[in-house]
Amino acid sequence: MIKIAPSILAADFTKLGAEIEEVESAGAEYLHIDVMDGMFVPNISVGLPVVQSLRRTCGMFLDTHLMIEKPVRYVERFCDAGADLVNFHVEADSADNVLQALKLVRAKGKKTGVTLKPRTPAEAVLPFLGLCDLVLVMTVEPGFGGQSFMADQLPKINRIRGLIDAYAPGCELEVDGGIDEKTAPLCAMAGANVLVAGSAVFGKPDRTEAIRRIRESVKEI
Ligand code: DX5
Ligand code: ZN
Repeated sequence: MIKIAPSILAADFTKLGAEIEEVESAGAEYLHIDVMDGMFVPNISVGLPVVQSLRRTCGMFLDTHLMIEKPVRYVERFCDAGADLVNFHVEADSADNVLQALKLVRAKGKKTGVTLKPRTPAEAVLPFLGLCDLVLVMTVEPGFGGQSFMADQLPKINRIRGLIDAYAPGCELEVDGGIDEKTAPLCAMAGANVLVAGSAVFGKPDRTEAIRRIRESVKEI
């Protein structure tokens, strides 16, 4: 089944609670929280206090996407703040530290994810797949919402679907960046099962309708 993960990066932060209630009651499965440090990506967004506040008031599955340097330093704190899944970039540290970060998240009883930037090849997930509950393929350069979908990532999504089926069945495959009702079916056909959408949900006046349209677009896949 395809899951939809609205990204709060495109929400109105002055009424975040109400905006999230809207996507929760519209049936979105995950809530995607983009954490940026101004070093790994050229932007700064939200961090631990926001995850903590959301955890107190929101029943949704919190999918935290850390776009930070050396995530091993912070993953346990995101688990303690209430993240359900902690997801970080393979490019952000050495392979040993990425493995260590995955183990720290598992030890906290939370789900793990690794993320690949557009220029990182599919095979970069292989050393980590055995410890991953999810792989996230970026379909834009990370750092900003509202960018155009990179269709050249579709073969990579398909390749990772093959690696997951062969070596880590049950691992989820998420896509993030420029996902809307036109690009969602392309990603689903390539093998993605979790669709992050910022502008295409929170950027629309009617979020329930926006989620319905994305879900409808992948119904036959
Ligand atoms: C970008 C973030 C995305 C972003 C997606 O670095 O990781 O999650 O919010 O936004 P849209 O859906 O507008 O491309
Ligand atoms: Zn993201």
